[in-house]
Amino acid sequence: MSQKREIGATVPCSKGRFLDSIYAPIQTDLAEVDRILIEQLDLSIPWMDKLLGHTNITGGKRMRPALVLFSALACGEIGVQHHQLAAALEMIHTASLIHDDVLDHAVQRRHVETVNSQWDNKTSVLLGDYLFTHAFHLASQIDSLAAIRRLAVASNRVCGGEMKQNAWSGDFDISEVDYLQMVSEKTAELCSCACYCGAHLSNASEPSSEAFSQFGQNLGIAFQIIDDILDLVGETETVGKTLGTDLKNRKPTLPVIHSLSQVDSALRQTMVAELVSEHPDHGRVMNWLESTGSLQYAKSRARQCAQSAVDFTDDLSGGVGSESLKLMAQFVLERTF
Ligand code: FPP
Ligand code: MG
Repeated sequence: MSQKREIGATVPCSKGRFLDSIYAPIQTDLAEVDRILIEQLDLSIPWMDKLLGHTNITGGKRMRPALVLFSALACGEIGVQHHQLAAALEMIHTASLIHDDVLDHAVQRRHVETVNSQWDNKTSVLLGDYLFTHAFHLASQIDSLAAIRRLAVASNRVCGGEMKQNAWSGDFDISEVDYLQMVSEKTAELCSCACYCGAHLSNASEPSSEAFSQFGQNLGIAFQIIDDILDLVGETETVGKTLGTDLKNRKPTLPVIHSLSQVDSALRQTMVAELVSEHPDHGRVMNWLESTGSLQYAKSRARQCAQSAVDFTDDLSGGVGSESLKLMAQFVLERTF
């Protein structure tokens, strides 16, 4: 590896006051994860430094690393393997977002222009593949077959969930159960994996590691439901990414699925015609969602999932680790970015 530089230094690292305060107990560990992320990437590869500037690899919410570290803390001490696993997870997550931005035709992510917008889809595919494969390169240094296996299975499920979503584009007959299964794969799997591995690498028992995994699964589902709400009503400057892509890409998200279940068949037909049209009218769809209370419904489902996550922590020992996980669940619900 040749030159080193601070990747993502273009955007301040503050994640907002609430998240910064939650992360206080793991500040030095998160800094170590950032250091590994930067150290690991081979900047001698042509354009790598410029490309990575557009992934802002240390500038995301770093939720998955934080979940690894807090789960570790709840079961024991944080060690080198936790740092490596957290960095590998963040690489996989970033790779999935680089590919996702191609699929969603997004132009902004983490407050910077996306790789597909600045360069092209070919570059995004390659950079995503580079990060994805490098994550396993890094994870292979971890002395736990169970953790590496979990990472492999979770990554595979993320892709499976995304393939379901792609197949369901324009299909507004899918149910809430289908939607929840899909988001539990595409989004919650990595959160679940983070919590399981954090606990497992701290020598937690298998049932205890599974309880952490369930925490992450429920938290991840709540996160994605809120993400889908923000895609409809969020502010681009605050969220820092292209919004409104779900309607444009004809994705059946929870607010839309709920709204369609609340209306008579004539209105449903009108709504579906709008939703599958080439340019769905955002204002018209929002009026329907508001009249059926579907944004509130989605928020209440997210709250239930976050509560289920917190319920799993009841069985876990107290301490700063599990208290911080509870705060993460609160952040997921309250976040505006
Ligand atoms: C964001 O969803 C995207 C994901 C949670 C997963 C994307 C997965 C892939 C593209 C498969 C490839 C995976 C790997 C591991 C290389 P979103 O579009 O709802 O959220 P957004 O608003 O943040 O874009
Ligand atoms: Mg997207």
